Amino acid sequence: MWDSIWINVLLPDGRDNPGAIGVQDGKIAWVGPQASLTAAPETLAKTIYNGANRWVTPGLVDCHTHLVYGGNRAREFEMRLQGVSYEDIAKAGGGILSTMSATRAATEDELFASSYRRLQNLMAEGVTGIEIKSGYGLDMETERKMLVVATKLAQATGIRIQRTFLGAHALPPEYKNRSDDYITHICEDMLPALHEAGLVDAVDVFCERIGFTLAQAERVFQKAQQLGLPVKIHAEQLSNQHGSALAARSRALSADHLEYLDEDGVKAMAASGTIAVLLPGAYYFLRETRLPPIDLLRKHSVPIAIATDHNPGTSPVHSLLLMMNMACTIFHLTPQESLAGVTCHAAAALGWNDSGKLEQGARADFALWDIGELAELSYSIGHNACYAVVRNGLYVAIPQSRSD
Ligand code: NIG
Ligand code: FE
Repeated sequence: MWDSIWINVLLPDGRDNPGAIGVQDGKIAWVGPQASLTAAPETLAKTIYNGANRWVTPGLVDCHTHLVYGGNRAREFEMRLQGVSYEDIAKAGGGILSTMSATRAATEDELFASSYRRLQNLMAEGVTGIEIKSGYGLDMETERKMLVVATKLAQATGIRIQRTFLGAHALPPEYKNRSDDYITHICEDMLPALHEAGLVDAVDVFCERIGFTLAQAERVFQKAQQLGLPVKIHAEQLSNQHGSALAARSRALSADHLEYLDEDGVKAMAASGTIAVLLPGAYYFLRETRLPPIDLLRKHSVPIAIATDHNPGTSPVHSLLLMMNMACTIFHLTPQESLAGVTCHAAAALGWNDSGKLEQGARADFALWDIGELAELSYSIGHNACYAVVRNGLYVAIPQSRSD
């Protein structure tokens, strides 16, 4: 007998007929049209939930965030509004380094409290899985502190969290003018120790003029792969450094940002199965004008994921639903593409092949919505239609007032 069954839910491919989902041991045991159930629901499961004809989707996955950090960068936002560029602020020692100082100064408890609040905002919108990067410590102690906080967030909330080590995010002041030495420190000391401590699920590099070179990114990737860790990259955000082609050669899970990606890079990603993670929040907040090559990604069938890129500098975004809207309005995705971008393709960008889909054997992570059609998820702005979430098979009501 299953632990529970959801009846009268509308499944994305169910053509408006009532569907049902059976849940057993935190996994989907059965999913399909209710009319195809082999027996009455009460004989199949211990608990019956009635979805009352609500739409159900896989739990949303936010596959690119920098959720754990100290301080904020509102002052830099004001400077950028006056015309100072993101790159110039970074070169003057602000940007990532200013968040590094605030993160080093924060206690583990303080970091946990602030990131827990941010995570609650995402979870209220049906997010059941999230990636959290380190990268605001840039020394062993603080990178460890960030990854420990990410681990504790998973324990405290029960949501699925991928912890990505992003030591190669910016050059810390201790290594000024010695970026190769810092990469050696990452490869020889930081990454092996944090991996040994069981704190790292994947490895990322910021490959950019104000980040690290292609050769440096490759050194970090080689070390990660020696340790058996999957890799991903921040690439072609502000310029074309050909980081996506390196990602493809390295069989990376994803290449993220991609405004300056060219067709050769797209073809390389297509050949290696690397997911394109697009981040409309950062594009919007930096007031970028060059769009990622959406049509080329479609032409070569590169799967497109969408994420918040939540971070204090370029994307202080607390809503994945808003990113679905921006993916459509700014990046010209269809609502279907945008939903796939925060479910199955987002899960693939994390190497999670049992998340982001409603299939027998997948994790029982799904969300129920008070909407008339699925496109409303991308259409509404500033409205959260999430009615309830099932996380690891367990029902969680979303406590909030809703208006229609
Ligand atoms: O994804 N591009 C690098 N990393 C972040 C920004 C980090 C920051 O400015 O604090 C991003 O946009
Ligand atoms: Fe990022």
